[in-house]
Amino acid sequence: MRGTALSFGARDKAEKYHSHEYNLVLEDEIEFIKSLPLEGTREKKKKKKKKKRREEESESSSSSEEEEEEEEAPKMSEHEKKKMTIAEVRRSLPVYPFKEALLDAIAEHQVLIIEGETGSGKSTQLPQYLYHAGYCSDGKKIGCTQPRRVAAMSVAARVSEEMGKKLGNEVGYSIRFEDCTSDRTRIKYMTDGMLLREFLMDPSLEGYSVMIIDEAHERTLHTDILFGLLKDITRFRSDLKLLISSATLDSAKFSDFFDEAPIFRIPGRRYPVHIYYTKSPEANYIDAAAVTVLQIHITQHLGDVLVFLTGQEEIEACQEILTERVKALGNKIRELVVLPIYANLPSDMQAKIFEPTPPGARKVILATNIAETSLTIDGITYVIDPGYAKQNYFNARSGMESLVVVPVSRASANQRAGRAGRVGPGKCFRLYTQWAFENEMDENTIPEIQRVNLGNVVLQLKSLGIHDLINFDYLDPPPAETLILALEQLYALKALNHKGELTSTGRKMAEIPVDPMMSRMILAADQYKVVEEILTVAAMLSVNGAIFYRPKDKAIHADTARKNFFHPDGDHLTLMNVYNEWEGTEYSSQWCYEVFIQHRSMKRARDIRDQLVGLMERVEVQLTSNPGDSVAIRKAITAGYFYHVARFSKGGMYKTAKKSQTVMMHPQSCLVEDLPRWVVYHELVMTTKEYMRNVVTIDGKWLLEVAPHYYKDTEVHDATSKKMPKTLGKAREELQKDYK
Ligand code: CDP
Repeated sequence: MRGTALSFGARDKAEKYHSHEYNLVLEDEIEFIKSLPLEGTREKKKKKKKKKRREEESESSSSSEEEEEEEEAPKMSEHEKKKMTIAEVRRSLPVYPFKEALLDAIAEHQVLIIEGETGSGKSTQLPQYLYHAGYCSDGKKIGCTQPRRVAAMSVAARVSEEMGKKLGNEVGYSIRFEDCTSDRTRIKYMTDGMLLREFLMDPSLEGYSVMIIDEAHERTLHTDILFGLLKDITRFRSDLKLLISSATLDSAKFSDFFDEAPIFRIPGRRYPVHIYYTKSPEANYIDAAAVTVLQIHITQHLGDVLVFLTGQEEIEACQEILTERVKALGNKIRELVVLPIYANLPSDMQAKIFEPTPPGARKVILATNIAETSLTIDGITYVIDPGYAKQNYFNARSGMESLVVVPVSRASANQRAGRAGRVGPGKCFRLYTQWAFENEMDENTIPEIQRVNLGNVVLQLKSLGIHDLINFDYLDPPPAETLILALEQLYALKALNHKGELTSTGRKMAEIPVDPMMSRMILAADQYKVVEEILTVAAMLSVNGAIFYRPKDKAIHADTARKNFFHPDGDHLTLMNVYNEWEGTEYSSQWCYEVFIQHRSMKRARDIRDQLVGLMERVEVQLTSNPGDSVAIRKAITAGYFYHVARFSKGGMYKTAKKSQTVMMHPQSCLVEDLPRWVVYHELVMTTKEYMRNVVTIDGKWLLEVAPHYYKDTEVHDATSKKMPKTLGKAREELQKDYK
């Protein structure tokens, strides 16, 4: 099927499925590489000699023996690649031969689904082809959405480089709290969430001639909502081209949704990937991943390694293990360049993953599932897949949303494996058993719209004048109970009136690019005259990355430094203390270093805060301030987060106020030493238990003041801010142990 470039229409769909059978070689009983003994180069040489003798004895050479050959990697080395000009790289991409056919198809059809392997050049080349074909001649833009911030930034950077333009001029990007575009921008990359926000300003997207929804297969909540909105727009804006770009088989589904829009397939170049499974489940997959990296490094021919982990913490832990072990091995091994990539990594560090590997060295990229399809990293030959990802899960019954580490789907695992076969044959080491793959993993990842809190999106749709949310044109509808709960929450937050219409508060909330609880908190701060303080709290909570830095070798110092910031009323105020002190040092990086604070995160908090301050005028909020009024600050927090209230129960446990779900205080909270009776938490994190992260103490009675429509007197009857007796030592120890 590879030769068939164009296959239009529903008629060809069955054919397309066949051509997309996964090109993996599943081997039954391959001894997993991890069980190979760790060996130095000397042993390796001995082994080679032995192997040579063996080869002389028998003429046959099996493929597994070939794999041990180190000298010549089958792929173009990174060094050689570096010598390739940008033009040559562009010409080498799978999409290149189809440039004209693609442009013809786009000219002919208003909506086109474009399917191609990750790395075929969809994200970087398509907008350039369109730009040069004159789609911007009347001053209109080509928009391209990305589900992830990192991808929006890095693809924009790459394309501006390819075009020889300064980033932010002709090619720019827009992500939440960061706009790197100008009047000159014609190719605009943005997160899907940002495009949804643009609808509020420009409901028919007049500024665009083409909109590309990239990575559509990721099925993020925002992308799914965009589908419905864009489908509607194309009906009255016949001049707008809509391209849906996807890496997988979902294209048939997209085609159906967009009234049988034709599918343009870019044939992939995929090499076989050998899959290896562990014989038994891995107890500690981070350690197992690190060991596997070293085993590959020592026993396998050159080629870069991509490791999938679930988040920054795991990535840092794995990086630490690798650094230590590499140090211990000294010059017995060749250079191993370990690079992390995750959403909150600063862009200069992110750019490093795209730099060519030094000759003779091996690059190891420790990534979140950002590298599954969103980012194309060249030169990957080995993939290590522990089989997990972090996902947001919302339980409509309990109203609780929580970040959970879950097994990935088989579709995801296959995408991950596919990363090893882009430039030559590769290997994928799955740190789970074949049985688990076949029996325990779901076939596909559930689209986000069916598993997250819809509050934010419902608020935005309401602001766009879309009232009938049940009958909105969804690719896959969200569960009705989740929709209803979102409406209820927005009503409780006073964003909607009893008829489900947007209130003036709701309109203002929709203007602030944070979730409804946070925007409600900000608006409540106006009433309590603590806007400056609440904006600081909001910015610090929005950073995502860690604020406190805790290197293992200086853990005691770091803990002491952290404790110095503690505020007796809770973590929000502790974060505010950190920010205020930093501000007092005129944003010193040296100060951050001395008190174990992550300077990067602080800079981001400052950027976010500046933007929120800038928005206040639009929502008619004065910048009032009263840093000493902890009660006012906490009341404003409670006014936004009264859904996140928990009451002390027993044995160090809390119960959520309404649904009586058991939750625990996060061991890193400043309140863990002296558990208060009533608390408001910012979020729940699920590890072994549900932990409340970022918590403030409140007075139960406040609930009647800030949310009288939601809480009844009887529900807060034991309302008191009195601290619990200090008999929780044991429970606390358990808690700490549990968490570790
Ligand atoms: O969108 P798709 O997955 O089809 O491919 P792409 O993201 O356009 O990637 C095509 C090529 O562009 C990759 O093979 C990389 O060589 C290069 N690229 C890059 O160097 N830096 C980026 N940030 C993105 C892509």
